[in-house]
Amino acid sequence: MSKTPPDLDSPGVSRRGFLQGTSVVAGSLGMAVGAAGAQDAEASAGTRTVELRVNGVARQVSVLPRATLVEALRDHLGLTGTKIGCNQGQCGACTVLMDGVRVNSCLTLTVMAEGAEIVTVEGLSDPTGDLHPMQTAFAENDAFQCGYCTPGQILSAIACIDEGHAGDAAEIREYMSGNLCRCGAYPNIVTAIEQVRDSRQG
Ligand code: FES
Ligand code: FES
Repeated sequence: MSKTPPDLDSPGVSRRGFLQGTSVVAGSLGMAVGAAGAQDAEASAGTRTVELRVNGVARQVSVLPRATLVEALRDHLGLTGTKIGCNQGQCGACTVLMDGVRVNSCLTLTVMAEGAEIVTVEGLSDPTGDLHPMQTAFAENDAFQCGYCTPGQILSAIACIDEGHAGDAAEIREYMSGNLCRCGAYPNIVTAIEQVRDSRQG
């Protein structure tokens, strides 16, 4: 419903009172906008430039000290293959490799990754576009359904073998237990990891 503008000529409304009222509102709005601007300025003043190496390429991001690595990857570098599930270190969806070690990028501050070699799922295929053997094994063994957990599972699986923790199915399950799959693709994930392990040994 539209609001009827005040009749400035009516006895109850003086021009001085109306103008004073609007100036208070305008002043308040100005203060609010000014406060937001000050907050933005404060926020950007707190950013720092961090040098990363991501998938073999030197990258720079300007982030607040509290920014997590997954935020830098997804929001600043556009590498959205790394997923956010719980955002508190419990599901493994955000797993990436940092100097060859699997980390939860939701618990890793970007500044902690300065100078480190980060590998995300986007960096696994070779320059010709051929998939990493672990990606191929996941596809061949139907080791996913919705696929949301899959980038984290694949990076974790690669590290699991590299760490020497893929001796048998029980050990694989134990060392992959930080990567949850709501679709329950666990048996096929284990099979895919065994396939890559065996192909390396052969
Ligand atoms: S999103 Fe990082 S562990 Fe769940
Ligand atoms: S494939 Fe859906 S969560 Fe793992």
